[in-house]
Amino acid sequence: MSAGPVDSDSGLQAPAARASADRRIVDPTTAPAAVGRTGPAPPLLEVDRLRTYFPVRGGVFLTAKAICKAVDDVSLNIAPGETLGLVGESGCGKSTLAKTVVRLLKPAGGSVRFEGTDLAPLSRRELKPFRREIQMIFQDPADSLNSRQSVGKILEEPFVVHRLGSAEERRLWVARLLDTVGLPARAADRFPFEFSGGQRQRIGIARAIALRPKLVLCDEPVSALDVSIQSQILNLLLDLQRDLRLSYLFISHDLAVVKHVSDRIAIMYLGRIVEIGEADEIYARPLHPYTRILLAAVPDPDPRKRRRLEVVEGDVPTPINPPSGCHLHPRCPYAEDRCRVEAPVLRDVSPSGAPPHRVACHFDL
Ligand SMILES: Nc1ncnc2c1ncn2[C@@H]1O[C@H](COP(=O)(O)OP(=O)(O)O)[C@@H](O)[C@H]1O
Ligand SMILES: [Mg+2]
Repeated sequence: MSAGPVDSDSGLQAPAARASADRRIVDPTTAPAAVGRTGPAPPLLEVDRLRTYFPVRGGVFLTAKAICKAVDDVSLNIAPGETLGLVGESGCGKSTLAKTVVRLLKPAGGSVRFEGTDLAPLSRRELKPFRREIQMIFQDPADSLNSRQSVGKILEEPFVVHRLGSAEERRLWVARLLDTVGLPARAADRFPFEFSGGQRQRIGIARAIALRPKLVLCDEPVSALDVSIQSQILNLLLDLQRDLRLSYLFISHDLAVVKHVSDRIAIMYLGRIVEIGEADEIYARPLHPYTRILLAAVPDPDPRKRRRLEVVEGDVPTPINPPSGCHLHPRCPYAEDRCRVEAPVLRDVSPSGAPPHRVACHFDL
């Protein structure tokens, strides 16, 4: 049976996989810097001009009153073995983007290509093989794990759904999965509520990797955990990436966490990507005013360097009837008339030969 769960025989040592090993958190205060990729690989995932809209209903007859453009014209790629970090404030569309990629939500337009195949027109049956390849890890595993099922049953389910193995083989695979994520074999007989938050996230991770996916969408996987537990779970994700050559879309509102695990980072604001580039580059040379606002909000150990940019306060807009032109203009210290009417496109501002660094701003900042 070739479709077994995790074992340690892959021996893959791609550049990005080595990079993930180097990023393990030894001590949170002296963590080594991320090692960059050595060259571009063809994309595993290609998201092109993706749009996901929700009708906003109101009134007695619940008629559609407005449209929430949660994901509005988003394009991004993820290479094999790569981690793309996705950062933005709550409500900017990060979860909606991930759910649209795994087709928990249907897009209003655009395409999601996985290894070259456009998933958007596929039927449920045609999508099934791709559901093995793309998995999701959620913020709160308590919500995503069936509390009435034992951990063994939860972890066996992906194999049952995909008709893999005998009952005996599945028991063996579940035991191996538990071992891989650092839980004892006897955990199979217990229920999710008997575990701590960190242990429950290990169960969520075990379920996500059961079918050996190529891409895992991690939606705020450590945001609900204590800081001390966060690094253990991040290290587990990095080890799994190295051993299984996983690609991650790693979503967080915490730039410090994202920087640590990501090869590249995309910054999202009200349904749109406003800046995307190499993780180190985004940190060293943040260009979009919104990225600078986010970075200014990350506490700097040196108090003299804190709050480098004057943040313009004001109502935080929503993707329901967002501001015209550049969505940031009501909060941007540099906004001019043009920004109120014309939406800037993402343009590459990197020096020739350097990896792409794209920014959606009218100005050279
Ligand atoms: N199922 C839904 N129905 C209607 N609106 C939704 C739904 N899911 C999300 N939204 C709206 O879409 C926007 C983006 O939400 P979300 O993707 O959850 O943001 P994030 O994950 O960045 O916090 C929000 O304004 C949210 O209210
Ligand atoms: Mg979310």
